[in-house]
Amino acid sequence: MDDPMDERTHERVGESWRADLARWAIPDAILAGAPVSPWGHSTARFAQRTERALADPRGPTLDRIAEALPERGDVLDVGAGTGAASLPLATSMGELIAVDTSAEMLEELMARAATLGVRVRAVKGRWPDVAAETPEADVAVAAHVVYNVPDLARFLTGLTGHARHRVVLELTERHPMTWLAPLWAHFHGLVRPERPTAHDVIAVAEALGHRVGHASRLAPLSRFDTPEEMAENACRRLCLDPGRAGEVLAAVVALDMWPVPRDRWFTLWWESPSGRRTLPR
Ligand SMILES: C[S@@+](CC[C@H](N)C(=O)[O-])C[C@H]1O[C@@H](n2cnc3c(N)ncnc32)[C@H](O)[C@@H]1O
Repeated sequence: MDDPMDERTHERVGESWRADLARWAIPDAILAGAPVSPWGHSTARFAQRTERALADPRGPTLDRIAEALPERGDVLDVGAGTGAASLPLATSMGELIAVDTSAEMLEELMARAATLGVRVRAVKGRWPDVAAETPEADVAVAAHVVYNVPDLARFLTGLTGHARHRVVLELTERHPMTWLAPLWAHFHGLVRPERPTAHDVIAVAEALGHRVGHASRLAPLSRFDTPEEMAENACRRLCLDPGRAGEVLAAVVALDMWPVPRDRWFTLWWESPSGRRTLPR
């Protein structure tokens, strides 16, 4: 963004979001003991999510994308992962433009897209840094990405600038690591933040001038199938050695954390103000 006024607007609008998200940082002393990155995404878990979405292609996010998509229109999926938010539209899409920082996720997405007969243009990189090399699309979607994004205002502006008709977001109501809060307190004496939330994303998008529609539902999948799977995941997130999974499991039972309540998923959407937003049907 070259316009200094725009720089200032983005700074101001996104200030609280950035500060709230920064409070989720893990203290260096704890991070130093982590055997693997506590923030990583497992491609296999997201592939499972895409399989579920393909098997049961329903929900407000897909509906909001589908109703703004012209016949064989193009979809831009930012933070596409393995394609859960876009591949279920295989039969109605023209091209899928998939942006992700992870080459592994994009490879998995392309393999599935090939099976479904979807044409994909993959862009590896961080949004909005790669916006200039990414083509526009009819609808831009970003599902379960915003809690990774400190500069939310710029991220959203990049999406809006690339959408001919509509932007659609999907996200959990609270930060996706919120479920771990009792375990952080138990193992590290650390109190985790309660902000930001989906309501803060709405506030940022509104401050950018958009009329934001929203809908919510319970997550279609539980987070974990078994307490053991949960304990294994918690070890990684809490920077603990995987050998401590038994200890984590005991804490999960003592803290009455099983089963993990399902997240509430929000779908947010707004029309592109670019002047090309006449809905196709
Ligand atoms: C939680 S996964 C969600 C994947 C998929 N959208 C879904 O709903 O299953 C987040 C994905 O966004 C990617 N990602 C995070 N921040 C990004 C950014 N700023 N630009 C591009 N990709 C990003 C990660 O690599 C990861 O694949």
